[in-house]
Amino acid sequence: MVEAEDLQSLKTIALLGGCRGPIRLSSQSLGNVLGISPQTASRRLIALERQQFVARTMKPDGQYVAVTREGEQILKREYADYVRIFNPDQKKYTLTGTVISGLGEGRYYMSIPHYKEQFGGCLGFEPFPGTLNIRLDPASVEVRKHLDHAGWIEIPGFTADERTFGGASVIPCRIGGYRCAIVVPSRTHYPEDIIEVIAGCELRKALNLNDNDTIEVEITHD
Ligand SMILES: Cc1cc2nc3c(=O)[nH]c(=O)nc-3n(C[C@H](O)[C@H](O)[C@H](O)COP(=O)(O)O)c2cc1C
Repeated sequence: MVEAEDLQSLKTIALLGGCRGPIRLSSQSLGNVLGISPQTASRRLIALERQQFVARTMKPDGQYVAVTREGEQILKREYADYVRIFNPDQKKYTLTGTVISGLGEGRYYMSIPHYKEQFGGCLGFEPFPGTLNIRLDPASVEVRKHLDHAGWIEIPGFTADERTFGGASVIPCRIGGYRCAIVVPSRTHYPEDIIEVIAGCELRKALNLNDNDTIEVEITHD
């Protein structure tokens, strides 16, 4: 395990060009970049050299530092971790929460033919008239924020029977293997820790769910 401060120093040297050849680098200038004293920077360089992550040469005009092959391996491992973290093919999010009951307004709106057609058209299933409400765990409220830039589908508002209906955004997801979608009505009164889910079937029956049951919602963002 490489110390965090060694990794930070090594990365800085690499950013200054140390993987492509020896760079002239005084302890003073490394300290300036890292926001530490020249003495501490000097100790860090010695530590990196001792672990053979860098090679140092003293010349009349100053100290030259190059990242060694071992040092480069350390940085490549770090890079591979970031590739895994940000790989667009692996953008799978899981929200966890508990089932709660609403007032049944979702059922009313999901029975309106215009909404049914719009959702059916973009989700590929005819939605069951009702929404499953889930209260997200605090950690999942944070995860949900990452979804803001994922593939939401916007459904515009409309007028029918002399009243206006609000628009909604949906994003496909899965619960217990069932294809579902999170729906966020633009006129919802729910806070950010409650989500409403629609599916082609009655999820409460299909998954035998009761209030307070814990469930996982999987979203694959492509
Ligand atoms: C597809 C859809 C459309 C909605 N449109 C409206 C709307 O036009 N006006 C409104 O006040 N609430 C609208 N709502 C939001 C509901 O008032 C409410 O936030 C939510 O659906 C509560 O459902 P529940 O009582 O079943 O938990 C809509 C909800 C859904 C699912």
